[in-house]
Amino acid sequence: MANDFRFQDGVAVITGAASGIGTGLARKALSLNMRVVLADIQAEALNAFAKTLTGEVLAVPTDVSDPAAVEALAQRAWDTYGGVDLLFNNAGVMATGFIWEIEPERWQRSFGVNVFGILNGIRSFVPRMLKAGTPAHIVNTSSIGGFLPSPMMAPYSTTKFAVVGLTESLHGEMQILQAPIGVSLLAPGPVKTGIFDDPFGATVPPAAQQLVDILRTMLATQGLTPDEFAERVFTGINRGEFWLIPQPESLDALLRQRVENILAGRNPELPQL
Ligand SMILES: NC(=O)c1ccc[n+]([C@@H]2O[C@H](COP(=O)([O-])OP(=O)(O)OC[C@H]3O[C@@H](n4cnc5c(N)ncnc54)[C@H](O)[C@@H]3O)[C@@H](O)[C@H]2O)c1
Repeated sequence: MANDFRFQDGVAVITGAASGIGTGLARKALSLNMRVVLADIQAEALNAFAKTLTGEVLAVPTDVSDPAAVEALAQRAWDTYGGVDLLFNNAGVMATGFIWEIEPERWQRSFGVNVFGILNGIRSFVPRMLKAGTPAHIVNTSSIGGFLPSPMMAPYSTTKFAVVGLTESLHGEMQILQAPIGVSLLAPGPVKTGIFDDPFGATVPPAAQQLVDILRTMLATQGLTPDEFAERVFTGINRGEFWLIPQPESLDALLRQRVENILAGRNPELPQL
């Protein structure tokens, strides 16, 4: 894919770009000679990361849960580069614990970042892309957890399920309009990132500690690096894949089992980790 990426030399916007998957996407976009707009709520980490990069980079500290901030991000991208070809709605947060013990503020933050963050991206970027009328692509990040719900991380499960529905709707609406805007639902499996280190300093409740320890170990031992992961993501975008599932081995068998259980009316079983 080295020299035939559809949006080679174009402009990419990446939210949640100060850490993890966002950093891999940024490096990959720059390697394709794209100009890159990086957004993250962690301003210091974002600016520090931007300094490590070579190429045309604009860092815009942004809280994606704030519609005005995302609108300002879009305006900044258009003012600076005249358009956006590729939008990664990538920012996301994890929250664990028993449903009834997780503070309402954490529930709200989960929906604010994981769902409204993406909605804000759609609201600010899609009208501008439609007006431009040129080919563009939007990647919304869910998770394999958006297909396979898990106890002890309900804010994550519910928001990532919502992202699947939101993104399929967006794809359908682009088809209705016959717009030149492609859409992908990105569902990562394990990637070595800081997803279990809450950027707002929230700690893991004791009831969820064992699960989080297992998942942290899974990321460390089985996870792709952000750069390996980004390589697969860009290949999928180039192929125009809606279902962007770079690690199907983490999803397929379990999803098939889930759907068969639902169709057969079998009650859910506890996920085996
Ligand atoms: N790492 C995995 O194994 C994995 C698996 C499935 C899905 N994902 C998803 O991939 C995406 C990227 O996560 P990651 O694994 O790189 O985690 P990460 O924690 O390393 O990076 C997420 C980034 O999002 C930023 N962020 C959080 N709230 C924000 C806000 N309000 N506004 C702007 N930025 C904000 C954080 O500051 C952080 O830099 C997330 O949506 C996550 O749910 C990750």
